[in-house]
Amino acid sequence: VRIHETQGTPGEWWGSRLAVAHGYRRIGALGAGLIRVAVSSAHARGCTRFLAHVQSANAAMFQALHWTSLDETSLHGRPHHLMQADLAQYPPMHAPEHGLVTLLRRAA
Ligand SMILES: CC(C)(COP(=O)(O)OP(=O)(O)OC[C@H]1O[C@@H](n2cnc3c(N)ncnc32)[C@H](O)[C@@H]1OP(=O)(O)O)[C@@H](O)C(=O)NCCC(=O)NCCS
Repeated sequence: VRIHETQGTPGEWWGSRLAVAHGYRRIGALGAGLIRVAVSSAHARGCTRFLAHVQSANAAMFQALHWTSLDETSLHGRPHHLMQADLAQYPPMHAPEHGLVTLLRRAA
C-alpha cells in the first residue's frame, strides 16, 4: 500500500496500490492491517481527510472497515468508488515502521 499527501491541499491524503499476495488473502486480516497502517500513519502526520479510489468489488470490505462511499466512477475501464476513511476509527500511529501483528485465522 502507498500513501501520499495531495500537493497544495494540506491534510488531504490518498492511499493506493493496496495488495496482498494471492496465497495470503483472507487468512489473517492482512489487507485490513495494511489499511490500518496506511490511514493511521497518515493521521499521525496531520491527515484530516483520507481518500482512495476503491475497486467496486472491494467497496463492501472498505465499508465494513469504516469507510464511506462519496461517488462512483470508472478508472482504467473498471468501476470504482471514491471512498473516505472515518479517521475517528483510525487513531494516529506514530511508529508505522513497527508494523502490526496479525493472527492467522484457524478453523475451530
Ligand atoms: C483487497 C485485498 C487487499 C484484501 O486483502 P485480504 O488480506 O484478503 O483482506 P482481509 O483478510 O484483511 O479482509 C478483511 C475483511 O474483509 C473481507 N473481505 C476481503 N476481501 C473482500 C471483498 N472483496 N469483498 C468483501 N469483503 C472482503 C474479509 O473476509 C474480512 O472480513 P472478516 O474479518 O469479517 O472475515 C486483496 O484481496 C487483494 O490484494 N486483492 C487484489 C488487489 C486489490 O483488489 N486491491 C485493492 C484495490 S481497491
